[in-house]
Amino acid sequence: MAARRPLIVGNWKMNGLTASLAEASALAGKVKAQAPAAELGLCPPATLVAAMAAALKGTGIGVGGQDCHAKASGAHTGDISAEALKDAGAIYVLAGHSERRTDHAETDATVRAKAQAAHRAGLIAIVCLGETLAQRDANETLKVVSAQLRGSLPDDATAANTVVAYEPVWAIGTGRTPTEAQVAEVHAAMRQELKARFDDGEGFRLLYGGSVKPDNAKALMAVADVDGALVGGASLKANDFWPIIEAKG
Ligand code: G3P
Repeated sequence: MAARRPLIVGNWKMNGLTASLAEASALAGKVKAQAPAAELGLCPPATLVAAMAAALKGTGIGVGGQDCHAKASGAHTGDISAEALKDAGAIYVLAGHSERRTDHAETDATVRAKAQAAHRAGLIAIVCLGETLAQRDANETLKVVSAQLRGSLPDDATAANTVVAYEPVWAIGTGRTPTEAQVAEVHAAMRQELKARFDDGEGFRLLYGGSVKPDNAKALMAVADVDGALVGGASLKANDFWPIIEAKG
C-alpha cells in the first residue's frame, strides 16, 4: 500500500469575508516559497468557495465546502449541493462536523447521505466524528466514535474519496486537547474499524481536530495513525496556520 500523504485542512467555519482571501493568498505565498510535505485544504464559508478556488488555482492548496445537501438539485432553499461546490472549484467537503450535528440535528444517516453525495459529485468527503465531554467522562468514547464511524461512512467510501476527522466535541475551540495517548487510542480504534470494513481501510487518512495550535501541533501530529489535522481558529491567519502545516512535514 502506498504511504498515506499527510493532509492539513483549515475550516474557517462562519468566519471570513472577501477581504479574508488575502490570508489564503498569503498562505499560497508560503507554499510557493517552501513546498510542504502535506496536502493542504481550506474550507471557507460557501460565499467564498468560488473566489478562493480561483485565487488558489495552481498553488496546490485545495478548497472545500463546509457542508452539502444529500441531493444534487431541487427545492431546498438555502442548501448547497455537492455538485454546486464541485462546479465552484471545490475538491473537498466536510460532512458531519459536530457543529452541524448539533446546530442542524444531523444524524449519522444524514452524514452518510452527504458523504455519498460528495462521492457522487467527485468530491473528497471529510467525515467528522467525536465524543462529547459527558461521553468521555462516562468512558464511552470508543463505543461512540466507532458507532459514528460505522453509521456515517457509506459503503462506497474508499481511501481516495473519504477522509475521517476525529474531533472531540469538548476540544473544539476550547484550548483543551486530549492527551497523545487518548488520541492514539481513538485513532487505532478507527483504523481497526476501517480495516474490518474496507479492503483499503489501511489507506484512509485520519485527521485529528480540536484546538490544534502552533505549540501543540508537533506532538499531536506525531501520534500513530494521525495523518494530519482539521484546524479551526488557527487556520484563519496564514502565520498561525503555517507552523501547523510544517509540523506534519
Ligand atoms: O473543524 C475544525 C474544528 O472544529 C476545530 O476547531 O478552533 O478548535 O481548531 P478549533
